[in-house]
Amino acid sequence: MQDRPSKDLAESIFEEDWEEGLEYDLEVAKRLFLPELLKLKSENKLGPVVADVGCGPLGISSVLPIEGLKIIRTDLVASKRQTADQFQFPLDLRKLESLSFRSKRNLVEAQQWLGTEGEPDSKSPVVDTIIVSSVLNYLDYKKVLKQLLSYLKPQGRLAIFNAPHRGKFTHGFLFSENGPKDNREVIEYLNTLGLDSETLKLDGINIGSIEKLDKLPQDRDLMKMLTTGNLTFIGKKNV
Ligand SMILES: C[S@@+](CC[C@H](N)C(=O)[O-])C[C@H]1O[C@@H](n2cnc3c(N)ncnc32)[C@H](O)[C@@H]1O
Repeated sequence: MQDRPSKDLAESIFEEDWEEGLEYDLEVAKRLFLPELLKLKSENKLGPVVADVGCGPLGISSVLPIEGLKIIRTDLVASKRQTADQFQFPLDLRKLESLSFRSKRNLVEAQQWLGTEGEPDSKSPVVDTIIVSSVLNYLDYKKVLKQLLSYLKPQGRLAIFNAPHRGKFTHGFLFSENGPKDNREVIEYLNTLGLDSETLKLDGINIGSIEKLDKLPQDRDLMKMLTTGNLTFIGKKNV
């Protein structure tokens, strides 16, 4: 009989982190990203259905006031858990293109939990806002973002927070070679997704658009923001 295949390295490392509460600085996301999500919420643009993918044990959705929202939380190593307002399950974002049987089943169950009408289809557009916070570095991010769009309702929003090098010292060996190398690259890619860009900030500084980025003084501060800075992007699906 064949031995069970050993656990993927990323899975075992993140699982350990998950159990230990993840040694990760959420303060930056709380300072720079949370206000943007709260603003969307106050303008009734966040929900009712919010998905936090790569959510971590205590990620940004755990500090978001959830009243009035239904939150789907997924992570490579998330345990399966369900309450009236939260549904959490494991999902490997690297495998969105060809979902495992377990993932399909979990996605169908999530739809049932949402009370979505019609034929259960694991790839239905049922989410109003997808949050991707400090996860892009571990992924072939272009592939993943494109896949995630199919779960967004028309007029739904993609809300991204990421700093290209954050996590490098602790988890750099798990970074994807197709992860973002700098923010300009990410912004350029986001521009191709056909989303209406509503928020584009670098380290909290409002950029507005990539054209405006080109007009900023190309000094050391800008170079730093473009390489290691915290990018906040919110874009609306315009179909
Ligand atoms: C730096 S933490 C960020 C957690 C949370 N989103 C936050 O903002 O605090 C990165 C998270 O990405 C998850 N992750 C890494 N690779 C993943 C993958 N392939 N699929 C799903 N989640 C993944 C890890 O398990 C970890 O919880």
